[in-house]
Amino acid sequence: MAKIVISGSGVFTPSEAISNKELVKSFNQYADLQNEKYAKEIASGEREPITHSSEEFIFKASGIKNRYVMNKSGVLDPKIMHPILEKRSDDELSIQAEMSLKAAKIALEQAKLQSADIDSIIVACSNFERAYPAISIEVQQALGINGFAFDMNVACSSATFAIQVANDMIKSGSARRVLIISPEICSAHVEWRDRDCHFIFGDVCTALVLEEENSAKSSEQFEIISTKCLTSFSNNIRNNSGFLRRTYRNGMDDQRDMQFMQNGRKVFKEVVPMVAKLILQHLSENNISANNLSRLWLHQANKSMNDMIGRKVLGQEPKADQQPNILQEYANTSSAGSIITFSQYSDDLISGDIGIICSFGAGYSAGNVIVQKI
Ligand code: COA
Repeated sequence: MAKIVISGSGVFTPSEAISNKELVKSFNQYADLQNEKYAKEIASGEREPITHSSEEFIFKASGIKNRYVMNKSGVLDPKIMHPILEKRSDDELSIQAEMSLKAAKIALEQAKLQSADIDSIIVACSNFERAYPAISIEVQQALGINGFAFDMNVACSSATFAIQVANDMIKSGSARRVLIISPEICSAHVEWRDRDCHFIFGDVCTALVLEEENSAKSSEQFEIISTKCLTSFSNNIRNNSGFLRRTYRNGMDDQRDMQFMQNGRKVFKEVVPMVAKLILQHLSENNISANNLSRLWLHQANKSMNDMIGRKVLGQEPKADQQPNILQEYANTSSAGSIITFSQYSDDLISGDIGIICSFGAGYSAGNVIVQKI
């Protein structure tokens, strides 16, 4: 059977960025305004005051220093605390489709392909700006592609699950060349007014091209050796927003559970062993020793979490170049995180080198892809 390769990758990074310093300043202004507004209730013990956030805590707990966003002014305005994006008419390109085209262009250039060479698109990410028509079909039209496209959502694992789907599609003959795009606008699902999680996310879009090796022209190709996906239900990362919202009593009110929520401690404790076990099992099924891994491109949620997974998999402290992180610059970009890392830290590998792209998150879900440089 012909080898299937990743022959191109691309990252679109929004032009606006927010440092921890700026973020904490605006959060603390918001907290002061709220505490002033509810001074009476706080004094009578009816309400808890909002505690200030801290730059030191954020970096120490997560490794994050910065995040890119599609709109900075709304997020940093203590009277707004979310991005402000202009609603577009139905005839205009949607925001996620626009991001997708920018990332796709870079991936196609790297693969030395024209858009017409692609015959399937999967837009795989955590949140979609509308229910239908699919963003992927809009991207398909903008790129002038004959074939089919669909959207899929497995939260933070969307891109790795899409690699498995695309790999299977090419193997079975239902598609020849597949574009996988992950336009993540996490700034619109995070609750910027919640001190426990306001620092976690950023926005980005990534793209990958998958095709058979015998038709690939790229100078950078990674064979997909094997994929393995795993899910196990958990409420520890949850977002209750959905199309039934309007039908609930007071459903359209400002409600905390209509944004990203998590029990971070539990996620950390439960997901680290689950992911390390999945990676080790997958390596063993493919008769690959962890000693032979040149690189781990891990999901980018928390640096300590990645360090711990690296130690469990490799049996020793991972070297910096063995397990790169982009978290400090991009924060958690959901499904795009491991793909940014793959895109930015893969061209130094030499033919025969083996690596793992691994993402994990809500569901719980974890997707593992073993690749080898051609
Ligand atoms: N600034 C200052 N202090 C803060 C704070 C902030 N922004 N947020 C929380 N704290 C405080 C808490 O109040 C708590 O104080 P206490 O000890 O006095 O009660 C303390 O810091 C520890 O809080 P905790 O929430 O337990 O922090 P943590 O060490 O677990 O780190 C996360 C929080 C979210 C960074 C971490 O749990 C994590 O990354 N988990 C994995 C998340 C993940 O992968 N999610 C997937 C999402 S897709």
